[in-house]
Amino acid sequence: DRTDGPGADLVGKHVVITAGGTREPLDPVRFLGNRSSGKQGVALAQAALARGASVTLIAANLEVAAPTAVELRLVGTALELEAAVTDAAAGADAVIMAAAVADYRPVQVSAGKIKKDETGDTLLLELTRNPDILAGLARTKRTGQVLIGFAAETEPDPVRLLVLGREKMARKGCDFLVVNRVGWAEGFASDRNAITVLDHDGDIVCEVSGTKMSVAGRILDLIG
Ligand code: CTP
Ligand code: CA
Repeated sequence: DRTDGPGADLVGKHVVITAGGTREPLDPVRFLGNRSSGKQGVALAQAALARGASVTLIAANLEVAAPTAVELRLVGTALELEAAVTDAAAGADAVIMAAAVADYRPVQVSAGKIKKDETGDTLLLELTRNPDILAGLARTKRTGQVLIGFAAETEPDPVRLLVLGREKMARKGCDFLVVNRVGWAEGFASDRNAITVLDHDGDIVCEVSGTKMSVAGRILDLIG
C-alpha cells in the first residue's frame, strides 16, 4: 500500500480517518443505522497510504475491506467513535471525518430482546442526541492540524445545497467541508462520488466528480 516515489508528499504525516456508519443498539439483536458503506473513507485511507502517510482508520461497520497497512480501530456506536477519534486526533496532522455518525441514540438499551407482546401495535422509541464529534474536534484542534468534515445532503438544488453546506460549516468550524449529495440512488454503495469542497469561510475550493479514489486524491491535496 505504501510508496516512496515523487507522489509521496504525505511522508511523515499522520492522518486519522473515520469511515462507515455508526450503529446505535436498541437491544441485543437490533440497532438504528444508516446506509454508509465506508467506501469513501477507505478510498481516503488507501490514497493517504499511497502518498506515504501513516494512517489510523477508525472503522464503523464497514461494508468493504480496510487496507492492511492502516492502524485499524473498530468502533460500533457514535460514543465509541468519539472516544477513538478524540484519542487518535491528539497526535494527528490531519483528521478526516468521513464517517456517517448517528445523530441520535436510544435513551434506553433493552437488556433483553424487545418483545411485540409487551409493546403492542405501535412502538415509540425515545432517542437522545449524540455529541457533535466534528464540532468538538474543531474546538480542541491544535495549531497546524487540518480538520476535514463531510456534509451529507439530499437537497437537489445546487444553490440551496451550497447554502446548506455554508450553514453547516458555520456550525462545525472545521478547516474544510466536503459537501456530498446523498439520496436513494446516490452516494453510499456507489464507487463514484461528486463533491464540492468549502473552506472555513464557506468559499468553494474545488468541485470534483469521479471515482471515490480520484475524489480521495483531491481531498488529500487539501492537507499537503
Ligand atoms: N458528525 C459528527 N458527529 C455527529 C454527527 C455528524 O462528527 N454527531 C460529522 C460527520 O462525520 C460529518 C459532519 O459531522 O463529517 C456532518 O455530518 P452531517 O450528518 O452531514 O451533519 P449534521 O451536523 O449531523 O447535520 P444534519 O444531519 O442535521 O444535516
Ligand atoms: Ca447527521
